[in-house]
Amino acid sequence: MTIQETNLSMDKLWGGRFTQPTDRFVEEFTASIEFDKRLYRQDIRGSMAHARMLGRQGIIPLEDVEAIVHGLQQVLEQIERGEFDFSISLEDIHMNIEARLSAKIGEAGKRLHTGRSRNDQVALDIRLYLRDEIVEIVTFLDLLLDALLTKAEANLDVIMPGFTHLQTAQPILFSHHLMAYVEMFKRDRARQEDCLKRVNVMPLGAGALAGTTFPIDREYVAEQLDFPAISRNSLDSVSDRDFALEFLAASSILMMHLSRFSEELILWSTSEFRFIELSDSFCTGSSIMPQKKNPDVPELVRGKTGRVYGNLMALLTVMKSLPLAYNKDMQEDKEPLFDTIDTVKGSLKIFADMIGEMRVNEVNMRRAAGLGFSTATDVADYLVRKGLPFRDAHEAVGNAVKYCIENEMDVTELSLAEWQLFSPYIADDIFAAITVEASVNARNVPGGTARERVWSEIERCREGK
Ligand code: ARG
Repeated sequence: MTIQETNLSMDKLWGGRFTQPTDRFVEEFTASIEFDKRLYRQDIRGSMAHARMLGRQGIIPLEDVEAIVHGLQQVLEQIERGEFDFSISLEDIHMNIEARLSAKIGEAGKRLHTGRSRNDQVALDIRLYLRDEIVEIVTFLDLLLDALLTKAEANLDVIMPGFTHLQTAQPILFSHHLMAYVEMFKRDRARQEDCLKRVNVMPLGAGALAGTTFPIDREYVAEQLDFPAISRNSLDSVSDRDFALEFLAASSILMMHLSRFSEELILWSTSEFRFIELSDSFCTGSSIMPQKKNPDVPELVRGKTGRVYGNLMALLTVMKSLPLAYNKDMQEDKEPLFDTIDTVKGSLKIFADMIGEMRVNEVNMRRAAGLGFSTATDVADYLVRKGLPFRDAHEAVGNAVKYCIENEMDVTELSLAEWQLFSPYIADDIFAAITVEASVNARNVPGGTARERVWSEIERCREGK
């Protein structure tokens, strides 16, 4: 599809009140066709519904409706075959399509825009477009959730160190860690679905801003386009972009989650951690260092989070302080929206595939889980169960840790006699209480990392709860 270079501004659909042609650069600067042509399907679908409504209400002749619908169908096919020359002088997708329709069918085509404005038309098109994209994003989120659940099931018993401050904290199940992301992505899905409710409102009929003098039937348009509701105020209908902002905000949070996950995958792939190995197909080598296998995919997803946040900021700033109703500024809504849709879909898809193929290094995780005094809390809890107040127990274990650091040993290497230097409450049963397995399985509370808790959470998610 090419952009025709014409300067015949007097052919413009709004040329009536103008005496001078538009400056060539002004045309280029103000046109949106380069990016809004991706709305062609929605534009045509909306126009067909509008035309049918005009006919049914007796606003335009039924023969004209038939010619319009047929003509629009031909335009659609022409665009899909890649044979439509988009023209910059026709500014945007709405006027490109309408002009082509009129060129094809004459008079009838010129009746299509009765009772409508590009202001309500563009609001309709974006809502139709975003609606379908959100449904796709939810599908991609489901794929990622499925990949995570499958990995969690397959590695249910793998133990890894859990971190706070990126310092070893307590042993956890690797599956529990994956299930934390399942929770995040489930909330992301809920946010997208919730946003969809506000996207799914039919704005056509607002006209330029005040409504229209024709006896239109907005409900009938909504019904044809599968909208459960129509907008209730014409000014709001053409000036509202909240729905797009909500989508950008929900998508920013989603990308924030992906960036955290990316960061962990990058870290876990290092030779220092070696917790996981990403499949070769998601990595690249270095042109100078032969040993390198770089985690490009998670790095790029982490990096792309920046543009999604930027898109949210861009549209918030476009909308800030805009007086009612439509202002040309709002044409700037599309690129941030489209870019976010593309970025989120791409990131989710590649992540689902990458998680599916990720190899888990159980031995290294398990070994690391026992380092860094990871079961120190378990010793304190043990002492509490023997009757010591928690604060005293904490101190006793702190002393034991200090002793271990001084003697370059781990708490698991202390003999019973050594343990008893720190508390007379410690008995022979201490050793079984401070293995990483015991530590994990002792956290048997709802939401805890004990095996049976994690398993029941996986099952709950599998049941769609
Ligand atoms: N291309 C415009 C946009 O995307 C369509 C609406 C234009 N309306 C207008 N009155 N100039 O916002």
